[in-house]
Amino acid sequence: MHSTQPYPEKCYLPFIFYPTAMWANQYGNSFIQEHLDLETPCGDYVVYISIPFCRVRCKGCPYFVDLLTKADPNNKELSYLDALIKDIRKWGQYPRWSKSRLRAIYIGGGTGSILTTSNLKRLLDALCESFPVTKETEITLEGNARDYDDEKMDYVASSPINRISLGVQSFDPEVLKIVGSPHAAEASEKVIRGLQQRGMVNLQLDMMFNMPGHNIDVWKRDLEKLKELGITHLTVYLYRIHEGTPQHKLVQEGRVPEMADRESPMVKMMYREARDIAKEMGFELYMHNHFCRPGFRSIYNDYNLEHVSDTLGIGAGAYSLIDNYRIGTSKEVEKYVETVNAGQHMVTTISEKMDRLNHKERYIMFTLQYFRIYFNRYRERFGTELMEDFGPIIQKLLRKNLAVMLEDRIEMTELGKEWFLNVVLEFVNPKFWGNKSSVDEPNWSMNVVLVDLIADNRERWLGPVEEPELTHVS
Ligand SMILES: C[S@@+](CC[C@H](N)C(=O)[O-])C[C@H]1O[C@@H](n2cnc3c(N)ncnc32)[C@H](O)[C@@H]1O
Ligand code: SF4
Repeated sequence: MHSTQPYPEKCYLPFIFYPTAMWANQYGNSFIQEHLDLETPCGDYVVYISIPFCRVRCKGCPYFVDLLTKADPNNKELSYLDALIKDIRKWGQYPRWSKSRLRAIYIGGGTGSILTTSNLKRLLDALCESFPVTKETEITLEGNARDYDDEKMDYVASSPINRISLGVQSFDPEVLKIVGSPHAAEASEKVIRGLQQRGMVNLQLDMMFNMPGHNIDVWKRDLEKLKELGITHLTVYLYRIHEGTPQHKLVQEGRVPEMADRESPMVKMMYREARDIAKEMGFELYMHNHFCRPGFRSIYNDYNLEHVSDTLGIGAGAYSLIDNYRIGTSKEVEKYVETVNAGQHMVTTISEKMDRLNHKERYIMFTLQYFRIYFNRYRERFGTELMEDFGPIIQKLLRKNLAVMLEDRIEMTELGKEWFLNVVLEFVNPKFWGNKSSVDEPNWSMNVVLVDLIADNRERWLGPVEEPELTHVS
């Protein structure tokens, strides 16, 4: 370890599910009725809708679910959508949702925009009829530009959808080819302008850097392009190659160039360039990897992460947080359709019920996505003092210059932001580290990666234990 490094190894994962460990649901459908309180309103909440399809599998993507061809000979899209709408209507009937404040809906996946315009309309109609959607409810449609034609842009601009998230990744066709992406540089630009001409304002783009073959000049051109586009929100991800993805194999076989070292001056410069250009665009880095123009934060993230409200995830591949349980619906589309058509919700995995301490840990990890923890918000929420509950860990962060203590909050330093996920991992409950009991359970997307990470060796990411730091107070 370099002597100035705060931890042995940097962790590059972008965000976290917590608690991560989940197990196959042994109770079947009765879990919902017997273990979840669906009668009592929950205050604020958000809804996630999973559209588990992509046109192609991007070679390194951990979110890929199922392939949907344009011809769709077996009507996969229609049978999925019929089931999804049934499930939406059923979930919408519980007072926990109908009598609470719905803050945001996020239609993602996979690829939300892949649905035909008529199916998209059916989905929106079902959501608006089943849930208390108001003009203030943020409704995001995630996807990519290739899915949009004039008809879809017309519909989206006149529909309750008020935020578009486009995976652009790069405006360079060569780089897009190497990551095996369906995104087309010109299509992205055309659709952004097309939506703006139709009156859509709130446009968010996903970009990636340090893809194989990527270099600083291409990245600078990508960033310059962003300046011209008049978008409102930007996420910038460092490209990762997860084990088990086709890209991992291709790199191992030497068929795709290696990515530059993530600690190299070039990669650091790429990040700095993104930050500087975002600043020139009048954007602020308001949370990890997320930049926006003032007033355009993601409301979905604010409630999901900052306020740790309930999240109702509907559809194959979705995760929820309901009544202190995390629950997951498997990404097996056919099984989902069958289960819903048999009149049941599909709950594939469940976590332990979160206790008070896990709640506090989760709250801290999520609010740290915004780089700070306010003392009064913590006190109002839990009735206890942050420094009494997590004093030794916070002292360690202060000592290592990863955070500073201000009058009203603990705030991450630039060094803390650089070692972002390591800092967040400090708050994982000691009992979860090294616990392998859930590694073979059904998990998907980033959850698999995080389950494996926490079931592994704590020292790798956080270094040797300093005794008092392991005290988490409930
Ligand atoms: C669910 S996808 C976005 C929506 C849509 N399917 C698309 O690709 O346009 C979420 C985002 O994850 C990011 N992503 C995908 N593969 C990645 C990888 N290997 N490393 C880092 N980020 C990745 C991309 O920026 C992508 O837009
Ligand atoms: S990046 Fe998007 S389109 Fe590509 S596989 Fe992942 S989810 Fe699908």
